[in-house]
Amino acid sequence: MVNGANGSTTKDKASRDRHEIEAISSEAVELRRVRETLMLGRTIPFMRILVAGGAGFIGSVLVPHLLEAGHDVVVLDRFYFGPTLDAVAAKYGDKLSIFKDDIRTFEPKTVLSGVEAVVDLAGISNDPSCDLEAHLTESINIAGGKRLASLARQAGVRRYVYTSSCSVYGHGAGLGLTENSPRHPVSLYARAKCEVEDYALQLGRESGGGFESVALRLATVFGVSPRMRFDLAVNVMTKNAYVHRKVSVEGGGKQWRPFVHVTDVARAMHLAATADASRCAGRIFNVGSGENNVQIAQLAYRVRDAVPSTELVSVGTDPDLRDYNVTFDAIGESLDYRTTRTIDDGIQEVLAALRSGKVDPDDRRAYTLRQYVFLREAELTAQSLAMHGHILGTA
Ligand SMILES: NC(=O)c1ccc[n+]([C@@H]2O[C@H](COP(=O)([O-])OP(=O)(O)OC[C@H]3O[C@@H](n4cnc5c(N)ncnc54)[C@H](O)[C@@H]3O)[C@@H](O)[C@H]2O)c1
Repeated sequence: MVNGANGSTTKDKASRDRHEIEAISSEAVELRRVRETLMLGRTIPFMRILVAGGAGFIGSVLVPHLLEAGHDVVVLDRFYFGPTLDAVAAKYGDKLSIFKDDIRTFEPKTVLSGVEAVVDLAGISNDPSCDLEAHLTESINIAGGKRLASLARQAGVRRYVYTSSCSVYGHGAGLGLTENSPRHPVSLYARAKCEVEDYALQLGRESGGGFESVALRLATVFGVSPRMRFDLAVNVMTKNAYVHRKVSVEGGGKQWRPFVHVTDVARAMHLAATADASRCAGRIFNVGSGENNVQIAQLAYRVRDAVPSTELVSVGTDPDLRDYNVTFDAIGESLDYRTTRTIDDGIQEVLAALRSGKVDPDDRRAYTLRQYVFLREAELTAQSLAMHGHILGTA
């Protein structure tokens, strides 16, 4: 028998460990019982929610939002933009499970085990990055998106939230667009959104109520996130005003565009994943707010006014053909949803993050296109130079 420093024996320690383990497991049983009781009453629907693309700009804000609300969260992501969930993983421990994997190839048995709702945010997230290599975009944004939806249905997932975009409305579609307005996608990115939206909603209809799909058409998002994006209009204009004291207005500035803060997007997704089916199953919702519909020139004036000595520069053409002004009544009525942040709040938030050094305007990963160009070049270089999996090293 070995005595410990305080005189206790190995036998004492084993017995203490056994008691501790019993206490932990009975606590876990009690927690599960409380959770199940609450769920039966639908008072607090704690769920196990899979967020595909959970390490991205929206995902790395949504994941802590869901954890804070008490849900268990599973993330499936390639982490193309770096380790954006480290702080959240350290804070929430095993409430958060992370799979560094691909929506095109992941193994459903482990990733979807026990999952009650899926939010799909994964994929190439803007027009120019989608145009880099169309076949890659089709394999990720279309085939990968459909694969995830259909595996979720087969695994018995009840709620499926697909992240679409107001860019499905495209160019010249008019003012006050509703979810029933015709779609005029003007890019591969937006055509892919239309195709997967249709697919997910069709799966829901075929399921006879067992698979509750919801499509959220997001306005252009703004705000600060652990995976920062300086390629979104509010964020990039604010960054250019801060760094260069210049804001460019392309294509005349009369184009309409709706905007929404990233935290308000997380709130909408949380609602869509957990609300009663009667309020959202089989529905499409525009996500944003009427007052955050602005013409690009108005946005530029607001940024100029927020950053002293900023000059407005008019650039003749705009490669981005989008022009739409959208109505957000449906989500307000069905899910009792209102946004909480204005564009001016977003400008101030991004400015504060730049001033404090919380975000780095020179980080390549904050520019979606630059990062995908870099990753593709790295992949092609590795393919042509690597021997036994190495380029400079040997083992
Ligand atoms: N940000 C916006 O303004 C906005 C507006 C409308 C719709 N959306 C949509 O919302 C979703 C999220 O956008 P975001 O701004 O967070 O973009 P993001 O690029 O920051 O996030 C996308 C995430 O998907 C991951 N990913 C890419 N390919 C993958 C694959 N094959 N398998 C697994 N993971 C993969 C990336 O690593 C990244 O973390 C996208 O579908 C985007 O199209 C965004």
